[in-house]
Amino acid sequence: MCGIVGYIGNRQAFPILVKGLQRLEYRGYDSAGVAMISDKGNLNVYKKKGKVSDLLDFSKDKDKSGTIGIGHTRWATHGEPNDVNSHPHYSQTKDLVMIHNGIIENYASLKEGLEKRGHTFLSQTDTEVLIHLIEDIRKHEDIKLGYALMAALKQVIGAYAIVVLDKNDPDTLFAAKKGSPMVIGVGNNEFFIASDASPIVEYTKNVVYIEDEHVAIIRRGEELKIRTIRDKEITPYVQELEMELEAIEKGGYDHFMLKEIYEQPRSIFDSMRGRLNSETGHLKMGGIEEHETKFINAKRILVIACGTSWHAGMVAEYLFEEYARIPVEVEYASEFRYRNPIIYSDDIVIAISQSGETADTLAAIELAKAKGATIFGVCNVVGSSIARATHAGSYTHAGPEIGVASTKAFTAQVTVLTLMALHVAKAKGTIAESRYRQLLYEMETIPAKVEEVLKLNDSIKKIAAKYKDSSNALYLGRGYSFPVALEGALKLKEISYIHAEGYPAAEMKHGPIALIDEAMPVFVIATKGANYEKVVSNIQEVKARKGQIIAVVTAGDKDVKGMADHVIEIPETDESLVPLVSVIPWQLLSYHIAVMRGCNVDQPRNLAKSVTVE
Ligand code: AGP
Ligand code: GLU
Repeated sequence: MCGIVGYIGNRQAFPILVKGLQRLEYRGYDSAGVAMISDKGNLNVYKKKGKVSDLLDFSKDKDKSGTIGIGHTRWATHGEPNDVNSHPHYSQTKDLVMIHNGIIENYASLKEGLEKRGHTFLSQTDTEVLIHLIEDIRKHEDIKLGYALMAALKQVIGAYAIVVLDKNDPDTLFAAKKGSPMVIGVGNNEFFIASDASPIVEYTKNVVYIEDEHVAIIRRGEELKIRTIRDKEITPYVQELEMELEAIEKGGYDHFMLKEIYEQPRSIFDSMRGRLNSETGHLKMGGIEEHETKFINAKRILVIACGTSWHAGMVAEYLFEEYARIPVEVEYASEFRYRNPIIYSDDIVIAISQSGETADTLAAIELAKAKGATIFGVCNVVGSSIARATHAGSYTHAGPEIGVASTKAFTAQVTVLTLMALHVAKAKGTIAESRYRQLLYEMETIPAKVEEVLKLNDSIKKIAAKYKDSSNALYLGRGYSFPVALEGALKLKEISYIHAEGYPAAEMKHGPIALIDEAMPVFVIATKGANYEKVVSNIQEVKARKGQIIAVVTAGDKDVKGMADHVIEIPETDESLVPLVSVIPWQLLSYHIAVMRGCNVDQPRNLAKSVTVE
């Protein structure tokens, strides 16, 4: 899901490819590579784990000539970040090379078939399987490369943005996409391919946004041709770019944080992709499967994390206890590691980390591992230190999260933890089949529900304007919504520098109620559920003391609407899945308040994206 570039024309490709990859670096990646057909007709492939600068060092004394080439920055999903797993990948004969953004979900079955036909693989990636498949079809069906590519893509389940180069055809690039981004720049006798327009805009403003399941055949000296993977001709729609380069890097959003808030329907979907099917009742969490007995027999689960990831762990506590009936203790990694904790060999530890590099979490894992516990990771970075330190795990496929304030990573973590809890509950037989199926079905509706809430952005922005000058704020929630109160408070304080506290709604009476006055905004999640009436009482207690109430409610709510100063209505959602939807208003609210206060939203003062020190 990271970065692709391609070039064919009259200029030397290498400098264009490298500059294009540098334009895409903002998206986050773990390795980079290029392939060119040299002026002598050789296919040269240079690829390295690390940064584009490492690739430049590696290729310094090598032949980088050629007017046709492809380049890639990888965000690993299958196979850890290393030189071999970096792109471009070769076909079996090494005549073809390919770069790919996305996930080939059915790569394992495709790979098995190819191995039976004598294919051998160098990497652990899903990408390499696809380029082998393309060549296998070309060879066995004796058809042209373009048709073989179409036939292969019809077998693929998953997302791709690919560019294929044939060393025996230095005048053609083949590109195709489905679910991953791709744009083609149409220059003067030259073409550019990239994941977004940022590598293209300095050369041409004429672009074609390729549609899903469309194949572009790009030949030197010819017009751009586009066909569907079912070989239907498509007329390319060339449009003129209006955005400036800087804006493009953020996909047209003012900040990475806002872009990542809006990516959540997609990142939640991607974190479920290939793992559940509500129609068949299929739910497969790879990492859990390997340790299913341990989970079934676990007497307790320890969750270890920091910050927002700790809040996701708090949601997991409610999920695992409700569905799998396993006691859960959620621990701040920094506290856990220094208290000489009691750890049993049959303990399951779930370590949650977006970056996979948080020092306290890593240290806590090592401590628990040394005492014999089974460590399960939920990370967003494949091959990260925490991912490698665990016995098993399930990756969140949220894609790179650039904004320091975590948003899409949180909902991706909660998505994965929900699926884990349901997988274990099903294996243990602690959940009724009907309830299990209903929750799987509801999970598949979450991306659309998040999309609905994102449409409330303007009204949330108006609420933000009313409270942007507050000095303090209180966030309240009960049950599953208590961790969301904590998360909402963290978002506000870390990017707007307004002091905010998250509290269990009932706990307000044991202290914070002394803070309530007309200057204190109280943000409450009051969605329909077991504790609804009790939350309504808490709201009345706040109103009785002239506090301001801003409430997230279930669409159609009348009771809270009649007493709150502002309500934000979200689609009806099962109480245990509400955090995935109810956190969105708090993310948007904190974003707008921070912007209105002139704060540096993407890099708040004193904060780092990954706390790799104690
Ligand atoms: C959340 O918005 C913060 N950026 C911070 O609390 C973060 O969640 C924490 O540092 C943990 O990071 P990790 O998930 O990468 O381990
Ligand atoms: N799934 C491919 C891999 O893991 C591509 C990942 C990406 O989009 O960068 O190599």
